[in-house]
Amino acid sequence: MKDIQVKKAFEKTFGGEYRFFAAPGRINLIGEHTDYNNGFVLPAAIDKKIYLAIAPVKGSTVKIKSLDFNEMVEFDIHETDAKLPHWAKYPYGVLKEIQADGYFVEGFQAVFAGDIPKGAGLSSSAALESVFAKALNELYGLGIDNLSLAKIGQRAEHNFAGVRCGIMDQFASIHGKKDHVIRLDCRSLEHEYYPLNLDGYQLILADTRVKHSLASSEYNQRRAQCEEGVLILRSNMPAVRSLRDVRPKDVYPYKAMMGMEVFLRCEYVTEENERVLETCDALAKGDMQRVGELLYQSHEGLRKKYHVSCDELDLLVDNARKIDGVMGARMMGGGFGGCTINLIQSSAVDDFKKKSTNAFTEAFGKPPVFYDVNVSDGASEY
Ligand code: GLA
Repeated sequence: MKDIQVKKAFEKTFGGEYRFFAAPGRINLIGEHTDYNNGFVLPAAIDKKIYLAIAPVKGSTVKIKSLDFNEMVEFDIHETDAKLPHWAKYPYGVLKEIQADGYFVEGFQAVFAGDIPKGAGLSSSAALESVFAKALNELYGLGIDNLSLAKIGQRAEHNFAGVRCGIMDQFASIHGKKDHVIRLDCRSLEHEYYPLNLDGYQLILADTRVKHSLASSEYNQRRAQCEEGVLILRSNMPAVRSLRDVRPKDVYPYKAMMGMEVFLRCEYVTEENERVLETCDALAKGDMQRVGELLYQSHEGLRKKYHVSCDELDLLVDNARKIDGVMGARMMGGGFGGCTINLIQSSAVDDFKKKSTNAFTEAFGKPPVFYDVNVSDGASEY
C-alpha cells in the first residue's frame, strides 16, 4: 500500500522518472544493549519497511517529502547546519556522512513513507537511514559496500539525532535475509545467517504503545556506564577493550570498585553475550524450549540489572509466563516502552493475544497492539 502511495506522490509532486528503494525495520531475537559493547546480537529484518522514490536533479538542491508527516523540506547539499524537523535529520545526516567520507553527490528529490510503527522499537529510524544510504549509493554510483553503508547510518544517528547507538539496527536493515536471523559479532563485524525454522511456532510482537521521552538520554547513560566499567576492568586487566573481552566471572571481583549500578550493567552485558551464543546453539538444535528460557532470562536482566524496562513491558512478560504454549518473551530494543517479542506455539497464538489484551487493558486502560513477524530481506532497489 505505502509503496504505491509513495510512487503516486512522487509522480504528483515532482513528475518524471524515479528509482524506487525500500529498507526494513528489524526485530532482535536476543542480545540487547550488547552491540555498543562489542558483543553479539541476533536481529532480523522484517516485512515492515520505508519506501523511497528518488531522482537526481542538476544542481545542489535537495527536496524531500515525508508522506507520513505530510511535510516537505528543502536544503542545499552544501549546507552544514540546516534547520530541519526531526524526521529530516536522518536523511540529512546520511547525506552529510556520505560527503564526510569524501563522496560526491548532487541534488535530488525524493518522497518516502513507511509502515514501520514509530517508537515501537522496530528501528524505523535505522530503516530511514538505510534506505537513503542505499539509494544515494546507487543513484550516484558511489560503490560503497554494505557494511560501510550501515556505518554511515549509525554515524547519522550519533551526529544528527544524538543517540550513540550501536550498529545492530542499521546492519540488520541493510543485511537482512528472508527467514534468517543474523548472528552479528559487533567486535569483528563478521556475521552469519541462522535459518529461523519456526515450524509450529510464531514470533509475535506485543506493542505497549508507550514511548518514553527519556529513552535517548537513558540510552546514552547506559552506554557511558558500560564504558566506566570497562575503564575499571582495564586498569586491572590491560588487554580489556570492551565488555566483550570479559565473562561474568571476570566482573564479580570489581563489584565494590564499580559501585552497584555500573556493576549490574556490566554483569548484565556479559551474561547477555553468553545467552546469544546459547540461543544460536538451541536454534540449531530446534530446541525452542531453551530459546524461550533464554528470552525470559534476557528480560529479567534488562529489567533488574540494566533497568531499561517499564511496567507495561513487565506486565506483558509476566503474563506471558502464565500462558500455555508461550515458550518465551522479553522486551525488545532500547527499552522504556515499545514491544515485547514472544515465541509462541502457533496453536496458542490466539489465546496469547486474548489473555494479554485482557490483562494489559485491565492494568493500563487500553489494549496492546500485536504484530505477526515475517522475516524478510534487507534494503534494496525494486
Ligand atoms: C537501539 C539501538 C541499537 C541497540 C538497541 C539495544 O535499538 O539503536 O543499537 O543498542 O537499542 O539492543
